[in-house]
Amino acid sequence: MDPEILSIGLLLAAVLAAGCAGNLLLPGKNSTPAPPDDAVILPAPRSEGGVSVEEALWKRRSARIYAEVPLMLADVGQVLWAAQGITNDRGYRTTPSAGALYPLEVYVVAGSVVDLEAGVYRYRPDGHLLVRIGGGDRRADLQAAAVDQASVGDAPATLVIAAVPDRTTAKYGERGTRYVAMEAGHAAENVYLQAAALNLGTVAIGAFDDDRVEEILMLPKNATPLYLMPVGRPVPGND
Ligand SMILES: Cc1cc2nc3c(=O)[nH]c(=O)nc-3n(C[C@H](O)[C@H](O)[C@H](O)COP(=O)(O)O)c2cc1C
Repeated sequence: MDPEILSIGLLLAAVLAAGCAGNLLLPGKNSTPAPPDDAVILPAPRSEGGVSVEEALWKRRSARIYAEVPLMLADVGQVLWAAQGITNDRGYRTTPSAGALYPLEVYVVAGSVVDLEAGVYRYRPDGHLLVRIGGGDRRADLQAAAVDQASVGDAPATLVIAAVPDRTTAKYGERGTRYVAMEAGHAAENVYLQAAALNLGTVAIGAFDDDRVEEILMLPKNATPLYLMPVGRPVPGND
């Protein structure tokens, strides 16, 4: 047999065997629960824009002071999509993930967003929607949990990048812990660049009380918050 055909055949057999053994993780293969009736379907994410990656990199700066104007729901959806949106039919996302295991969960603490009631929401990449966790404006509580950083209380909304580390450590052991932190960094940079492209501002916040943030988000026991990212329209010269 032609050696090239033989090697392709062997490769195919190996891939099939790995898949049958459950070693090939195909995100989106598993059925996901139907969204709840009160889910907020986000406007479809844009796949094109007027700002190049290079321009966004030049513009990216941490912004901590925001104009007192509400965010549009489409803008919230767009930065969520940048963090964890699904970009192919296998369920792969904007942010790379070790083993495509996707340990990150992104939450939104919304206070002033057009067409979105104040409250705490979890982003569901499948369906590009928000699941309501709790009602009411929790921005002041979140600010208090973040060593009183005013950016958190003042922003119209704050994204919280949380993780379920077990999803990754189950496969990679202790090394998975570092993979999860790396992934949060990838997602946060995506949010920074998308915000820059939308003329929005954000800052990656690592200084906060884990327990208090977990309580505000009603996080499940196996989840932990890694980053807070307030998002708003930056006022000039605030860096
Ligand atoms: C891991 C990490 C944690 C951070 N935590 C905070 C924070 O708690 N509060 C804050 O205002 N900025 C925080 N920052 C943002 C840095 O202060 C900021 O990136 C730095 O001053 C450089 O400015 P630039 O982002 O505008 O380039 C953090 C950044 C990183 C990477």
